[in-house]
Amino acid sequence: MRLAHVSDLHLVEHEDGAGASPLAVARAIAEDIAAIRDALDLVVVSGDLTDRAEPAAFAAFEDIFAAIGLPLITIPGNHDGPAGMHAYTATSDRFAGWHITNRVVEHGALRFLGLDSCLQDTTEGALDQDALDILEAEVTRRDAPPLVIVMHHPPLLLGLKRFDGFCELEGHDRLMGILRAADAPITVLSGHVHRPYTVQEGRITCHVAGSMVAPYDSPLPFGDSPIRPTTPQDFYYIHDIEPGGAHVVTPQRVRGLAP
Ligand SMILES: [Fe+2]
Repeated sequence: MRLAHVSDLHLVEHEDGAGASPLAVARAIAEDIAAIRDALDLVVVSGDLTDRAEPAAFAAFEDIFAAIGLPLITIPGNHDGPAGMHAYTATSDRFAGWHITNRVVEHGALRFLGLDSCLQDTTEGALDQDALDILEAEVTRRDAPPLVIVMHHPPLLLGLKRFDGFCELEGHDRLMGILRAADAPITVLSGHVHRPYTVQEGRITCHVAGSMVAPYDSPLPFGDSPIRPTTPQDFYYIHDIEPGGAHVVTPQRVRGLAP
């Protein structure tokens, strides 16, 4: 199966006229995905759909991404409330179908579990007991399709103080205990840190999609080293994931983005 992974769109209610509007960036991304729709099975958006969780910003997300015409799954980011996103979900049957907090959906012989790792009004996250119990049940399920977890906060830390500080998560110890005990590979699709990267520990692999709206372009945490982006992020990711284990990740440059 082949999916497009996008994150951290930070949509606002209206164009504000300053710089590249998040709405314009989201439209360019959606048009790009729509142009390759026939080659895709699914779109995954790993949180921070909106910047301030206004209902109109969620409605804009829904309009822009519905036009792609593909199945979509999503979970809240910290900027989505998360209460604002749960409230908007109750107002739209289509959006409720996309939002998979504490829910498993199957696409292309894979199992996708959505977790809401966010707390109201803070960057740090948390996974409550319900979420961890559901995760443990899915990780230990026998004879089930390979598991892909979608959660905003990346669970695997990098050992880089600045990035790991963004990813503090209440419940992290139990989360990692569950993931490390898995007897099959687990893929995690995340956002939150606005710079794209992949990190692997044992059979757990976490892919962070970055952000095209507010890329994290500080030289931190790499000091004065040249390991830093030299241009704004203008790509999302395509994941080819085979149930047998092969997983190929390719950046897909968005055509139509303002330079
Ligand atoms: Fe974000």
